[in-house]
Amino acid sequence: MIQLYNIFKTYNGKIPALNDISLLIKEGAFVFITGPSGAGKSTLLKLLYRWENFDSGQVLVNGMNIAKIKYTKLHLLRRNIGVVFQDYKLLPNRTVFENVAFAKEVVGASTKTIRFKTLDSLKKVGLLDKRDSYPLQLSGGEQQRVAIARAIVNSPKILLADEPTGNLDPDMAMEIVRLFQSANERGMTVVFATHNHDLVAKSKYPFIMLNRGSIVRS
Ligand SMILES: Nc1ncnc2c1ncn2[C@@H]1O[C@H](COP(=O)(O)OP(=O)(O)OP(=O)(O)O)[C@@H](O)[C@H]1O
Ligand SMILES: [Mg+2]
Repeated sequence: MIQLYNIFKTYNGKIPALNDISLLIKEGAFVFITGPSGAGKSTLLKLLYRWENFDSGQVLVNGMNIAKIKYTKLHLLRRNIGVVFQDYKLLPNRTVFENVAFAKEVVGASTKTIRFKTLDSLKKVGLLDKRDSYPLQLSGGEQQRVAIARAIVNSPKILLADEPTGNLDPDMAMEIVRLFQSANERGMTVVFATHNHDLVAKSKYPFIMLNRGSIVRS
């Protein structure tokens, strides 16, 4: 569950990026965050895994008051959150398998678990056969599917996606939405930021629309 209460955020004290945002996203929900460029979508997601701080208000993630988490305990928040970005952020000199396995290694899993979970994640995104390829040998859609496999390999409770289809054609974009949908059906809470209204309109999920840091529709 994600709860925001009266969140205000400015970057270097200028115009607010988030202006009195309150919202509740229930466990197991799938929600789109929409709105034009500069609306505050990325900022909102970054608050949730404490990539950015906020000026006032309260954010609870799975019941944790995230502003109170000590720096040395941030991994406890972040291991419950998988994040997917527009530009994939894969390691170019590592294979598909290694890119996904790495996320499992950093949480200290055994070699056997790493292998099992990595292959399982790659299977879920339909990329088992590409496990020995390097990211740059893949299409954009395939690279994004690797990024999704990496985001789900630790079975996080929450999956955040920041414009994950921004570089993809419409068919591939829908395919990516379907993968998030499957993750959601397996129990993950999904928060999917996109300015692509088509994608939102074609899906059955609710949306929260931001404009200039405020919720204008939900
Ligand atoms: N690191 C930063 N430093 C200063 N200002 C920032 C920073 N990041 C975002 N902003 C500003 O905060 C506001 C919200 O930006 P944000 O990136 O959250 O919007 P967005 O809805 O994700 O836009 P887009 O659709 O273009 O990705 C914008 O006015 C932006 O210029
Ligand atoms: Mg953004």
